[in-house]
Amino acid sequence: MTGEKIFIFDTTLRDGEQVPGCKLNTKEKIELAMALEDLGVDIIEAGFPISSPGDFQSVSEISKIIKKSTVCGLSRAVQKDIEAAGEALKHAKRGRIHTGIGTSDSHIKSKFNSNREDILQRAVQAVKWARKYTDDIEFYAEDAGRTENEFLAKVVEAVIAAGATTVNIPDTTGYCLPHQYGEKIKFLMEHVKNIDKAVLSCHCHNDLGLATANSISGVMNGARQIECTINGLGERAGNTSLEEVVMVLKQHAYLGIYTDIDATKLNPISQLVSDTMRMPVQPNKAIVGANAFSHSSGIHQDGFLKDAQTYEIIRPEEVGAETSKIVLTARSGRSALAYRLKNLGHHFDRNDMDVLYEHFLQLADKMKEVGDDELETLASQYTATA
Ligand code: KIV
Ligand code: ZN
Repeated sequence: MTGEKIFIFDTTLRDGEQVPGCKLNTKEKIELAMALEDLGVDIIEAGFPISSPGDFQSVSEISKIIKKSTVCGLSRAVQKDIEAAGEALKHAKRGRIHTGIGTSDSHIKSKFNSNREDILQRAVQAVKWARKYTDDIEFYAEDAGRTENEFLAKVVEAVIAAGATTVNIPDTTGYCLPHQYGEKIKFLMEHVKNIDKAVLSCHCHNDLGLATANSISGVMNGARQIECTINGLGERAGNTSLEEVVMVLKQHAYLGIYTDIDATKLNPISQLVSDTMRMPVQPNKAIVGANAFSHSSGIHQDGFLKDAQTYEIIRPEEVGAETSKIVLTARSGRSALAYRLKNLGHHFDRNDMDVLYEHFLQLADKMKEVGDDELETLASQYTATA
């Protein structure tokens, strides 16, 4: 691969698992961690070890099994959290502690009843505690999206000086517009003196549907890690969707930025996560939704059947999806009907198709979708009366 690599930090097992109803047991987490490693994820955030004995065990077991990806555990900037993360990760071939604290005025005042100076000291102290366990430390400045840039730069510089090797700039509330998030990353790249000693990471939430756009804007301005989840799962409206950022960067290869993700495994892992978490994927979800490669209106179907590229920018096999589908509804056209009939072994000339199409429309108006059984009936009735 040419260009610059973006590290993919998957947090399906931590931020994704925070979704109500998506909780996983250790066995399920191990199965998903192995699939994430196989997908080519660089860092797997396996859980939040202090949060429960079960999650501590999950992080610990995953650490013993995963060898290629880095295994990461979350903590607050609290000594006992960091100790639990360090202990849970002790068997990891590559272990990372992810620690941090809220840096926006809203978090400083409402959550901590504190002030900027105290938060800065707590941030540095947390990194120092984490260094007792590993050299791979990621610091998160929670609510960085709403943190004033000058203060954020001060925090980033201080935690890098203390030993953080990755600094996460979360848009925790999904507030930023893409240009604002990109400018924030650019500001840090230009104003943090020791920025060359760390990787900046994007962790964008989707409250305004901008998580993917914000993450892409972040890497276009110098960030080199994206935090994301399969199917975009995560707190509230979710996180940046892994499959989306990977395919954006593949489609726009001229940006000169690539990931090590094996895109042909995206649909299988999406299904695995959906089944394991018992959380359906919305049909119109980009890349992995059931309709991502379905064509239903006559205009689109006609163009697609002449040349797939007229209405598809990705081939389904590139992302491990089944073949494209021509769905028959009352909005479908003659060429789509002829195509589906041909697939069932029925060939009609143009005049026959005109008549058949009128029968088809009468039927389609009464139904959501016309399937193979109805097509067989339609074809046999027409053949019998013709
Ligand atoms: O959204 C957020 O700020 C987080 C941090 C804990 C990284 O999930
Ligand atoms: Zn988050």
